[in-house]
Amino acid sequence: MTDDTQKVAEQQRQYWNSPVGDRWVSNQATLDGMFVPLTEALMEYAEIKPGEKILDVGCGAGTTTRILAAKVGAGGKVLGVDISTALMTAAKANADAGSLEFFEGDAGSVTVPLEDADLIISRFGVMFFADTAQAFAHMRKVLKPGGRLCFVCWGLLQDNPWFQMPLDVIADRLGPIESIKPRAPGPLAFAEIEYIKEFLDQAKFGNIEIKTRDIQLICRHGPSEIAGFLLEFGPGARVLATLDIDEDTRRLLTGDLVERVAAFEGEDGVQIPAKLHYVRAANA
Ligand SMILES: C[S@@+](CC[C@H](N)C(=O)[O-])C[C@H]1O[C@@H](n2cnc3c(N)ncnc32)[C@H](O)[C@@H]1O
Repeated sequence: MTDDTQKVAEQQRQYWNSPVGDRWVSNQATLDGMFVPLTEALMEYAEIKPGEKILDVGCGAGTTTRILAAKVGAGGKVLGVDISTALMTAAKANADAGSLEFFEGDAGSVTVPLEDADLIISRFGVMFFADTAQAFAHMRKVLKPGGRLCFVCWGLLQDNPWFQMPLDVIADRLGPIESIKPRAPGPLAFAEIEYIKEFLDQAKFGNIEIKTRDIQLICRHGPSEIAGFLLEFGPGARVLATLDIDEDTRRLLTGDLVERVAAFEGEDGVQIPAKLHYVRAANA
């Protein structure tokens, strides 16, 4: 690792071990509810079979890890790896199947206790590496020959109102904000399909397949809770953390955001459209 990559890796470790990790833990049920359709699509795309050995990267509180454990059954094994102590603690507390284990560390550089895996999978947990190609090359070593990689990540910012809305209301009220650096570690790092192909190719994955899908995020809460949530997570929250705003300004921003979110409210509550990339590749 160069000094620069080491610095970015350390920033990411600190970020996921800051109060952000605790916020994820306390909002996990809301997030899981929102992610049901996209998670089902991921599981289907990964074609999981009973008895398989699976590494779940950036597994967070372990929701997908538990779904995977149920799918592989007692004859299989699933290891969830994550860099956040708070999320790993929550994941371990919820681990109730023998085929399920968790390991804390940077998936892009640590040696995880799993060999000859059939599948590496991730729901939004692989876009935060300091050196992405190197991290994927490192993770590939866990796979058996012919083993699969399958993950879901966010598409372009302008196709994902979940991220675009908070940035817009901040910019409209407080003036221009720094645009998100393309490919920089963060939820939108893999927005460009060409980039995904490039780093997977560099990491020596073969049979690369990317499908972009339109999925609805199903929100259990009303516009005001969602607006509050959007200012606590993701790029909007990251921008706000760099600005010294007072409570009145936060209230105004929340109000602006409530109006935007309300535009997506229908008979079945709030459903926000998202464009996601579903990626498959093989350790060819
Ligand atoms: C957006 S969250 C997704 C969590 C989980 N997959 C889910 O869908 O609920 C991203 C996760 O990736 C983890 N993460 C970030 N960088 C990581 C790294 N280098 N190695 C392992 N986990 C990492 C974070 O701690 C966080 O739990």
